[in-house]
Amino acid sequence: MTTASAPGKVILFGEHAVVYGRPALAVPVTQVHADVEVEDSPAPGIWVDAPEISIRCEISSLPATHALRTVIENVFRTLGISSPPPLQIRITSTIPVASGLGSGAAVSVALIRALSSTVNRPLSDEQVNALAYEAEKLHHGTPSGIDNTVVTYAKPVYFVRGQPIQTFNVARPFTLVIADTGIPAPTRESVGDVRKLWEADKTKWEAMFDEVGGIVQAAREAIETGKTKELGPLMDANHALLQEMTVSSPELDRLVLAARGAGALGAKLSGGGRGGNMLALVEPTEAEQAASALRAAGAKNTIITTIEEKQ
Ligand code: MEV
Repeated sequence: MTTASAPGKVILFGEHAVVYGRPALAVPVTQVHADVEVEDSPAPGIWVDAPEISIRCEISSLPATHALRTVIENVFRTLGISSPPPLQIRITSTIPVASGLGSGAAVSVALIRALSSTVNRPLSDEQVNALAYEAEKLHHGTPSGIDNTVVTYAKPVYFVRGQPIQTFNVARPFTLVIADTGIPAPTRESVGDVRKLWEADKTKWEAMFDEVGGIVQAAREAIETGKTKELGPLMDANHALLQEMTVSSPELDRLVLAARGAGALGAKLSGGGRGGNMLALVEPTEAEQAASALRAAGAKNTIITTIEEKQ
């Protein structure tokens, strides 16, 4: 049996503007992960069992554009294998689907790695990333590529669309509480709506995206020089810009306010928005208290994570 695992991710700063070429910062979240097991199948074909998304079938019965089918077919095409062996694939994940934590990217990355090792042809990170990006296009329409990149390399990423991956140093560890609204984040829809705003007034939105880009640069500098307290106001400023992009929601705003009320140094939504997760920067000693305040304000789940050099 071959297995592979990939972490979740969280965008610290710069979502949405990253689709328009501005930088964004993201880190892996190892508390949640997607896991894939591959073994020989007694029956011909490639069988997928993914209980969390209620899939149990042979892949040719999935629509041709289904992300799982596409990933599997693309892996074998890339490897030049025209008749793959009969396989049984089991996919499980602790990353909530459509929560902004990169569940789709993590499943793709783990699946690509498990399949390529099962046929003894492991792929490079660059190839894994490129294949996972193809699947992201099916999930999101016009993805920047940040989710598959941070999940593939599993390290902090300063991401600019179309540029080679850059990581960043974390001079002093900092603690985040990630809280889930429990409402699915319709990333394709929120990305599409931001595009409509941009198309209607490119001058205004390009300036807005520049502002986000400035926040991302300032945040990277604060992280790299250990001035982590400066991240709080930067998170608040980024959230205000995301509200203007119409990608927040009453539930996200309620959690952001609850976090600030519980002493967080700053808070913002994370990922596509309209649902999914938000983040709060907290003193490590106050993390538990902030997490319970967030649950009392309606969060369905909270994760406390420390961002440090070696994750
Ligand atoms: C989704 O995790 C992040 C967005 O910026 C979309 C993207 O970058 O593809 C909203």
